[in-house]
Amino acid sequence: MSIRKAQSYIDRKWISAGREAVSIISPYSGEVIGEQFLATPADVEHALATVHAAKTEIANIPSHERARILKRASMLLEQEKRRFAEIISLELGKPLKNTLDEVSRSIETLELSGEEAKRLIGETIPGDASQRGTRAIATTFRVPVGVVGAITPFNAPLNLICHKVGPAFAAGNSLILKPAPQTPLIATELLKLLLDAGLPENAINMVLGGVEIGQQIVKDPRVHVVSFTGSVRAGQNISELAGMKKVLLELGGNASTIVHEDADLARAAYLCARTGYSNSGQSCISVQRIYVHHSVVESFAQRLKQEVSKLKIGDPLLPDTDIGCLVDANTAKRVADWIEESIRLGAQLICGGRRNGATVEPTVLLNPPKTSKVVCQEVFGPVVSIIPYETIEEAIAETNDSPYGLQAGLFTNQMDLAYKVAHALEVGGVVINGTSNFRLDHWPYGGVKNSGIGREGPRFAIEDMTEMKMIVLQIPEQG
Ligand code: SIN
Repeated sequence: MSIRKAQSYIDRKWISAGREAVSIISPYSGEVIGEQFLATPADVEHALATVHAAKTEIANIPSHERARILKRASMLLEQEKRRFAEIISLELGKPLKNTLDEVSRSIETLELSGEEAKRLIGETIPGDASQRGTRAIATTFRVPVGVVGAITPFNAPLNLICHKVGPAFAAGNSLILKPAPQTPLIATELLKLLLDAGLPENAINMVLGGVEIGQQIVKDPRVHVVSFTGSVRAGQNISELAGMKKVLLELGGNASTIVHEDADLARAAYLCARTGYSNSGQSCISVQRIYVHHSVVESFAQRLKQEVSKLKIGDPLLPDTDIGCLVDANTAKRVADWIEESIRLGAQLICGGRRNGATVEPTVLLNPPKTSKVVCQEVFGPVVSIIPYETIEEAIAETNDSPYGLQAGLFTNQMDLAYKVAHALEVGGVVINGTSNFRLDHWPYGGVKNSGIGREGPRFAIEDMTEMKMIVLQIPEQG
């Protein structure tokens, strides 16, 4: 296997000479698949100076041209779909089924971002609502903030970069990107593709490295908006360091899906199995807690067990694999420990529970106590808990009894009940007759409470990556 190279991209150059080299190891096979070269603090300074110097030039690119570049990038990605999917599967252990889907979503995210570049519109506001404004008129414009600092996670390492780069450039900003240290290869490939598509070489700089590099970006006054996806702890740290700059945070969740007594149990079980374990549960909206009406809990548990038994564990690069591995063996060990803890505290193991290296079997637990980590914290692993409830009010209260609030799902055939529950749930989005883990990339995506601040989705991210500017015209009296 050829060794691939992941490099920082600074001031129009790929940087590796003299930089610390770190092996990139496939979490599934344990093989060395590449090498990444870490940026130094001086590199980050150079990158920040470059994107800051570029901001006026980028802001002056007309929106039709920005749209064209993003459209071209999405078309190039379409041609590279399989190769990109394989790189993610290789460096992350995410099954090819999931990574092909991720690349398809990334194609859309880039295209949608380009379309939104053409919709940066404002309002005209007559002044005469005020007695002092009868001869004045205001017009608002959306203008780029300047420099966006983007810090992205490993779990959807392509699409979540597209969700930062696409809107930032569509809005007319330059950008400094720090991708996850676990997935630098796909970040490097995407950047090459964006440059091939015509993204100006000074519109984006990328620095590879860990937390300190990220902190340097967050603290720097030349960065105007920080857009981060990752853990709650890191998000809180970013908030503290960012000072007066705008911070967009897509953080964690311990997502709940409610299965009511009248639900289509077959559909609910199928969807919970398909969306509770994809990418081994490493998604902020992965189905984690399933609140099931007590009258159907046995039947639902059996159906879910049956659906889970159909999931194929294996090599992430094989087309029929459903469960590859977690991002590394330590994470898998932590997840296995949490499963053990819940069983010690009284949960019933319905299926799964074992670990082999970085792989954890898809696991279903019945009735873990509220205090167990698999219920009250974010598992970010292939573990789903079924928790019975008596009344719908109890299911709502349990869902809301969480520090998180990203998305939730609800299965019921009663539309009036569905809307009542949806309004009562303290989350950013509710999926009726689906699970928490359903996202289309043009929809607003984000949470309340510890799940974050702001919304992703090109149209919504662009609002945060632009400022409203008002220009007032005063009309002089005649004569
Ligand atoms: C996330 O983990 O927040 C990303 C989920 C997705 O885009 O499907």
